Amino acid sequence: MVNENQSPLILGVEDEATQAIVLKQCLKGHNFNFHVVNNGQAALDFIYSEKPDLVLCDWMMPGISGIDVCKEIKSNPKLTSTIFILLTGKSSVEDQVFALEAGADDFLNKPVNKSQLLARIHAGLRQKKLFNQLQIANKALKETQSQLVQTQKMSSLSRIVAGVAHEINNPANFIYGNIQYLKEYFQDLFDLIDLFLEKQETLPPEIEEFMKNIDFEYLNEDIPKVLSSMTTGTKRINKIVQSLKSFSGLDEADIKLVSLNDCIDNTLTLMQQQLEEKHIDIVREYKQLPRIYCHFRNINQALMHVIANAIDAIETKQESSPELRGIITIQTLLVSEKTLQISIIDNGTGIDPDAFENIFDPFFTTKPIGSGTGLGLSVTYRIMQRHGGTISCNSFPGSGSEFVISLPTQPVLGVVAKSSIAS
Ligand SMILES: Nc1ncnc2c1ncn2[C@@H]1O[C@H](COP(=O)(O)OP(=O)(O)OP(=O)(O)O)[C@@H](O)[C@H]1O
Ligand SMILES: [Mg+2]
Repeated sequence: MVNENQSPLILGVEDEATQAIVLKQCLKGHNFNFHVVNNGQAALDFIYSEKPDLVLCDWMMPGISGIDVCKEIKSNPKLTSTIFILLTGKSSVEDQVFALEAGADDFLNKPVNKSQLLARIHAGLRQKKLFNQLQIANKALKETQSQLVQTQKMSSLSRIVAGVAHEINNPANFIYGNIQYLKEYFQDLFDLIDLFLEKQETLPPEIEEFMKNIDFEYLNEDIPKVLSSMTTGTKRINKIVQSLKSFSGLDEADIKLVSLNDCIDNTLTLMQQQLEEKHIDIVREYKQLPRIYCHFRNINQALMHVIANAIDAIETKQESSPELRGIITIQTLLVSEKTLQISIIDNGTGIDPDAFENIFDPFFTTKPIGSGTGLGLSVTYRIMQRHGGTISCNSFPGSGSEFVISLPTQPVLGVVAKSSIAS
C-alpha cells in the first residue's frame, strides 16, 4: 500500500550490473525506498515477502523472465495491485501489446531516460494510491451492506419471534396456571378414595377388579410425578417465551438512570449461590462510571446471560480438571466520553473455532439437549443493539473467553413497535 508517511517501496529487477547501477542513479535523491535483485526468482521472493508498491523489471533475463514474473504476480489476488513496469530493448508494437496483455501496467524502452522513468514511476504510484482508496471504499461499502442485511434480517426475525412469543405465551400460562388446580383436585380425589377405603372393610369384587386393572397403587404414586414434570416443562416454555420477548423488545419496560457497576453487583448477588456451589471467584475491577439511562431490566438480563455462560464454561472445564478454581473477572471502564465498556473474562473452556461464528445466532447452542436454549447471547446482542451498543467475543480455546460489551454513555433507547404487544 502506498503509505502517505512512508517512502514507496520500489523493486528493480535487472540481471546486468551496469543497468542496475543506471536505475539506482536515476532514482537517487528521490523519496523512494529502492531495492535491486538480479533474477526472476529473487524478484518473486522479494515481492511475496515485502510486497513492494512498484516493480521495474527487465524483460529478458536468464531463468524466469520478466514476463513470467509479471504473469505470476498479476494472477495473485493479493499482489495484483502491485504496479509492474517492464523494461526492455524490444520496441515493436507487437512486443508492447504482448507485454501489456501479460498484465504489465507500463512499458519502458532501454536505455531508460531518467525523466521518462521518473514520470512513469509517479504515474504508477498515483494509480496504486487510487487503487488502494478504491479498495478501502469497497470494503467499507461491503461492511455497510452486510450490516444493513443483518439489521433487516434481525428486524424481520424479531417480528416473527414477537408473534410466536405471543401465541405461545397465553396457552403456556393457561397450562401452567391449571396444573396448580389439577394438583389440588387430584389430592382431594385421592384423599376421598383413601377415606372410602378406610371406612370400607371389604370392597365389592368389581371395584377390586377395576382397581387392579388400572394399577391404582401406581397411579397414586405416579400422578404427582407427571404433574411435576408438566410444571417443569411449562416453566421452561415460560423461560423461552421470556427470552423471545426480550429478543424482540417486547418486554422493554422501565427506563432508569443506573450505574452499570451496580447492575453487575445486583446480577452477581442473584447468581451468588451458583457461584459458590461451583467454586468460582469473582474478581471485580471496576472503574468509576457515569450513570446512564437504559432499559435496566434488559441490561441486567444481558449481564446474567453472559455470566451464566461463563459459569457453564468453567463447570464444563472442571469436569476434566476438577482442581480448577474458576475465576470470572469483570472489568468496567470509561473508554471515552461517549463509551463505557464491560469485559467479562472467564477461565473456562473457551469456544471451539467451529462454533465461534455462530454463538450470537438465535437457538445456537453446544449444550446438551434440554439444558441450553441457545437464546442467551442472541438476546444479549439484540439488547445491546437496541441501546446503540455492541457485544463482541475473544476466545482462547482451552483456556477461556472474554466478552466485551460497549455501551454509549447516552444510549439510543430504541422505541419498540408496540402494535405486536398484546400478551
Ligand atoms: N463464556 C463462554 N465460554 C465458552 N463457550 C461459550 C461462552 N459463552 C457462550 N458460549 C458458547 O455459545 C453458545 C451460545 O450461547 P447462548 O448463551 O446463546 O446459548 P446457551 O448458553 O447454549 O443456552 P441459553 O443461554 O439459552 O440457556 C453456547 O452454547 C456455548 O457453546
Ligand atoms: Mg447461555
